[in-house]
Amino acid sequence: MRGLSVRSPQPKAYRLKHKAFSVIALFITAIYYFSSCQSNISIQTAQYAVNGQKVYKNHCQNCHGAKGEGLGKLYPPLTDQDFFIKNREKLSCIVRHGLHGEIEVLGQKYDQPMPGNTLLTDMDIAYVLTYITTAFGQSDSTYSHEEVKKALESCQ
Ligand code: HEC
Repeated sequence: MRGLSVRSPQPKAYRLKHKAFSVIALFITAIYYFSSCQSNISIQTAQYAVNGQKVYKNHCQNCHGAKGEGLGKLYPPLTDQDFFIKNREKLSCIVRHGLHGEIEVLGQKYDQPMPGNTLLTDMDIAYVLTYITTAFGQSDSTYSHEEVKKALESCQ
């Protein structure tokens, strides 16, 4: 029977450990990435932004672009820090219920409707708002779950 050695698969514990390690490594890279862009960002803000990036990719990127650059005159960019500051309380409502009517972003007028995202939880909205305002705007603060929950209660 010599020469018929079958390569034994790696033990399960090893594979699990390996997987956990990759996840941790990815997480550290992500935090490093966010903190190197914004040096005074807290670990909590970085964690929210990392989670928010996933929400963004699945629910926003098609229209607003990978870097929040928008699309021509159809979809506004998400890089207008003044708009974010002025509308801080409204942003949660925009994400949950969408937006209609003319708005001005970075001196450009936009007037296409944005659909609402009723599947996103309050937490998802906190994550995605933290992501867009830190990655595309110049904010370094977190949208907390509490803040979003409160803002959503007063949507008109
Ligand atoms: C189907 C395309 C589409 C999707 C998907 C979409 N948006 Fe929008 N978004 C728009 C349009 C169009 C407007 C402008 C609405 C208007 O003119 O009243 C807008 C406006 C906005 C604004 C306010 C203006 C600005 O540029 O800052 C924010 C903030 C925003 N979207 C965030 C998001 C987030 C976060 C998501 C994902 C959860 C998302 N949008 C998904 C099309 C979209």
